[in-house]
Amino acid sequence: MFRLDDQVAIITGAAKGIGAGITKIFAKAGAQVVIWDILDEGQELANNLTSAGFKTMFQKVDVTSTEQINQAVDTIMETLGRIDILINNAGIIRDRSFLKMSEEEWGTVIEVNLNSLYKVTKAVIPHMKAFNYGRIISASSVNGSSGAFGQTNYSATKAAVQGFTRSLCKEVGKYGITVNCVAPGFIESDMTASMPQEVIDKGISMIPVGRIGTPEDMAYAYLFLASKEAAFISGITLHANGGAYAI
Ligand SMILES: NC(=O)c1ccc[n+]([C@@H]2O[C@H](COP(=O)([O-])OP(=O)(O)OC[C@H]3O[C@@H](n4cnc5c(N)ncnc54)[C@H](O)[C@@H]3O)[C@@H](O)[C@H]2O)c1
Repeated sequence: MFRLDDQVAIITGAAKGIGAGITKIFAKAGAQVVIWDILDEGQELANNLTSAGFKTMFQKVDVTSTEQINQAVDTIMETLGRIDILINNAGIIRDRSFLKMSEEEWGTVIEVNLNSLYKVTKAVIPHMKAFNYGRIISASSVNGSSGAFGQTNYSATKAAVQGFTRSLCKEVGKYGITVNCVAPGFIESDMTASMPQEVIDKGISMIPVGRIGTPEDMAYAYLFLASKEAAFISGITLHANGGAYAI
C-alpha cells in the first residue's frame, strides 16, 4: 500500500460515503486527516479513528463558505503547519429532468460541486506552493463524461471538474503540485441509496465486474494519485467504474 506518513490531508465531504472511505484508508496509510463536512457525524468518525490510534481531526466546514474555509485553513496551518493533500470530494445531487428543473436546483448543485473548488483550492494552494509540494484530487463522476437523464446540473459540474483539473495542472506543476480527478462509477453510498431500486439494479447489471463499487475501492484510486510516487501524473481523470464506462 502507498504510504502517506506525516502528510496532512484535507478531505471535504468526509463524514460519510466515499469521503469517509478515503479518510479511513488515508489514516491507515499514515496521513494526518482533516475531515471537513457540514454533518456532525464527521466528529464521530474522527473520534473513532483517533481511538483506534490514527491521526484525524474534524472541522465543521461548509465548502460554499469562503469565511469558514479560510478560518479552517488558518487553524490547520497554526496547529499542523502544512497541507500536503487536498481532496475536493464534497458533492450533492438535485436530480430532475431539465424541463422541470428549478433555478434553485440548478444553482445549488453548481455552488456545492463546482464553485467550492474555486474557494477551497484557492485557500489551500498558497500553502502547498510554500512547501513546493502538493496533491489536489477532485471528485468528478462517470456521468460528467457519459451524461445521465435528470442530471444536467450534476453532469455539468462533474465535466467542469475535469476541465478545471486539466487547466490548473498547467499552472501549478512548477510548484511540485499535481492536479487530478477521480470519476467514480456506481458506488455504494447514501447518494446512490436514495435512488429507486430499479435504477440501482439496472446500474449494477451494467457493471462488467458484477458488483457495485465501494467507498474503499474509490479510496485506493485516490490514494494512488495522492502518493509521492504519482509525481509524474497530472491533469488526468482516473475513471473507476468496474468497466461500466470504458473511455
Ligand atoms: N456515490 C456515487 O456513486 C458517486 C458516483 C460518482 C461521483 N460521486 C461523487 O463522489 C463524491 C462523494 O459522493 P458520495 O456518494 O460519498 O456522497 P454522500 O452524499 O454519501 O456524501 C457526500 C458528503 O458531502 C457532504 N457535503 C454536502 N454538502 C457539503 C457542503 N456544502 N460542505 C461540506 N460538505 C458537504 C455531505 O454532508 C456528505 O457527508 C461526490 O462529489 C459525488 O458527486 C459519487
